[in-house]
Amino acid sequence: MNTPLAGLRIVVNAGPTFEDIDPARYLGNRSSGKMGFAIADIAARRGAEVVLVAGPVHLPSPAAVLRVDVRSAAQMHQAVMDALPCDIFIGAAAVADFTPRAALDRKLKKQPGQDVLVLELIKTRDILAEVAAHPQRPTLVVGFAAETNDVAAYARSKLERKGLDMICANQVGLPGCGFESDDNALLVIDGSGERPLGPAPKHALAASLLDLISARLRKDTA
Ligand code: CTP
Repeated sequence: MNTPLAGLRIVVNAGPTFEDIDPARYLGNRSSGKMGFAIADIAARRGAEVVLVAGPVHLPSPAAVLRVDVRSAAQMHQAVMDALPCDIFIGAAAVADFTPRAALDRKLKKQPGQDVLVLELIKTRDILAEVAAHPQRPTLVVGFAAETNDVAAYARSKLERKGLDMICANQVGLPGCGFESDDNALLVIDGSGERPLGPAPKHALAASLLDLISARLRKDTA
């Protein structure tokens, strides 16, 4: 068997996070987790020790992967920090940027005549940026950026702002690609340039992305 990633520990996060408003309601997003699960699956098949921190998704666990299920951005942050140190971190999750200041323990009720509800949201911790700035920083930190417009420019600014080695940008809203689809297209950006991958099934894309990551790791550790 071909195991080019043997001896490496890879942490991947995947899926959405759900931020509870009250016992009946939450703020979520449309991430299916398929891209992150495909990356975890291929990395394990290539011999890596893989920890997959999964948001709330209905996907089977890839074989030979240690899966940690979480719900909220705060839980995902904790699970990722607990999984360090590692050689490569891949932040494929669609982590909520904001969360309700406090989850209510009783269902929020409409008041008579109420037409507007104002929810107070506070910023979540940026898992990816914290991993990239961590004292035990992985050798490679890879992020994702879902954008509707100015894809390369926004992704490049995230690469720099968050201190990443590589970012995989994908355009949201293209027919047949993205969140709930089995196919996707990525623009992989690092310090040496840009490389389009796909459109292709997410498993094929994950394989191509791991080829790029392996090549980059060999270059950085040569
Ligand atoms: N991310 C993270 N923790 C957060 C928010 C985002 O780790 N609290 C990670 C995602 O997993 C992804 C990358 O950051 O790898 C990009 O996420 P995104 O939300 O698109 O970027 P932001 O920096 O939040 O910018 P914006 O929402 O303005 O697009």
